[in-house]
Amino acid sequence: MNYPRPFTPNQNRATFVAFEGIDGSGKTTQAHMLKDYLANRGIEVVLTCEPTSGPIGRAIRQAAVSPDPMSPEEETDLFIQDRADHVKNLILPALRLKQVVITDRYYLSTMAYQGARGLDPEAIRTKNELFAPSPDLTLLIDIPPAIALQRIQARGRHLEKFEMLDFLIRVRDIYLTQVNLGFPGLVLIDGRQEPTVIHQQVTNLVERLFGPRDSND
Ligand code: TYD
Repeated sequence: MNYPRPFTPNQNRATFVAFEGIDGSGKTTQAHMLKDYLANRGIEVVLTCEPTSGPIGRAIRQAAVSPDPMSPEEETDLFIQDRADHVKNLILPALRLKQVVITDRYYLSTMAYQGARGLDPEAIRTKNELFAPSPDLTLLIDIPPAIALQRIQARGRHLEKFEMLDFLIRVRDIYLTQVNLGFPGLVLIDGRQEPTVIHQQVTNLVERLFGPRDSND
């Protein structure tokens, strides 16, 4: 019989999914919803994020609230070091075990954010691709920066270093440019939609990675 069904926990290949977007886009909510969806179907899934909670990730977060600004080059180096640990200690081991890995931010964030500070996104990409495996799917949750900032303020948080309107406009432009350039596996999702609607689009896209449905099901 041919009817829609959720995918089966048939994990014979590793799957690597990244969520990207500007601050306040809702990507963290979507990453959690996807993780729960997969876990509820018996799929082994790891949800992780960058900056990580390791020593370099913590140093990055501290620097974000410090009055001394880092140069874009220093910042890029730190994000790359943090990612190198992340890849070696968490992402690659999980992919080797054929687990689904979901990361909330990955190297497209460095291209977009440090690119928005004036560095060449393609040079950042090259440095990352020396060691970082490419995701099978990167979901760009896109929203206009003015809406993102309203959301962040509505959460009662004051704005951090990277959360300025003109800066987020540049970050978003780089993300959208990468969509137009055909960054492999990058899919644009309208982040202004209801979270449940976005989640449905996300699961449809992820399901495709698991291969065609068995027509006998
Ligand atoms: P974010 O995902 O917002 O973490 P949290 O919600 O836990 O604070 O990431 C923190 C900031 O780091 C965010 O403003 C984007 C920035 N960032 C970069 O500038 N470059 C990078 O490579 C990464 C991974 C993040």
